[in-house]
Amino acid sequence: MSAREADAPIFGPAFQAELDTLFRWRRDVRRFRRDALPAGLLDRLLATANAAPSVGLSQPWRFVTVDDPARRAAVRADFETCNAAALATQDGARMANYARLKLAGLEQAPCHVAVFVEPDPEQGYGLGRRTMPEAVAYSAVIAVHTLWLAARAQGIGIGWVSILDPSRVRAILDVPETWHLVAYLCIGYPETDAVIPELEREGWENRRSINVLAR
Ligand SMILES: Cc1cc2nc3c(=O)[nH]c(=O)nc-3n(C[C@H](O)[C@H](O)[C@H](O)COP(=O)(O)O)c2cc1C
Repeated sequence: MSAREADAPIFGPAFQAELDTLFRWRRDVRRFRRDALPAGLLDRLLATANAAPSVGLSQPWRFVTVDDPARRAAVRADFETCNAAALATQDGARMANYARLKLAGLEQAPCHVAVFVEPDPEQGYGLGRRTMPEAVAYSAVIAVHTLWLAARAQGIGIGWVSILDPSRVRAILDVPETWHLVAYLCIGYPETDAVIPELEREGWENRRSINVLAR
């Protein structure tokens, strides 16, 4: 048998250059247009995220689409509470800068998706996580990133909201007690595209050059 499947793709230089462009233009988005995504697109993006790697092939991510207005309002209220608490921990000039930042697009984003992890999934029979149980959560994070890139390739932006109380969000969404919140995602068409992160444009932090240790 050949070592290579007959229909395995070969990615050429044009695709590689476009992929690099996708990585550079993926942004965390907080400012959304309100228009809905085309029917079925979110489901297809989530199916792509389901192709992410996972420890032991455990697929421990659990996606929850949040459309119910009351639950969305409760998540927004939780964000406001957590963000006010975070603001209070900032000191000096940083506090004024923090107060100016827009750190979630919960109001405008047409789609909300919460991503949880099942920390002790049966699937995968524990392979790969005896010494690193955190590998399960890492797997869910990769699913989020896969979703992020797949969405960007369709011109759709994602904003990751972590300024939330995870157990309150679990209660608001009425999901199993064992699930831990990994990400609350705002999804929709961005108001604008940018190659520079918003936090950099707002003077909060700069992306630094890579630093690799050699041993
Ligand atoms: C785990 C994680 C949590 C994040 N939480 C928030 C958040 O609560 N609010 C926010 O505005 N951005 C959040 N971000 C987005 C980061 O601020 C953003 O990725 C960073 O500033 C770099 O910008 P870029 O994603 O556009 O390259 C989060 C990103 C990650 C990976």
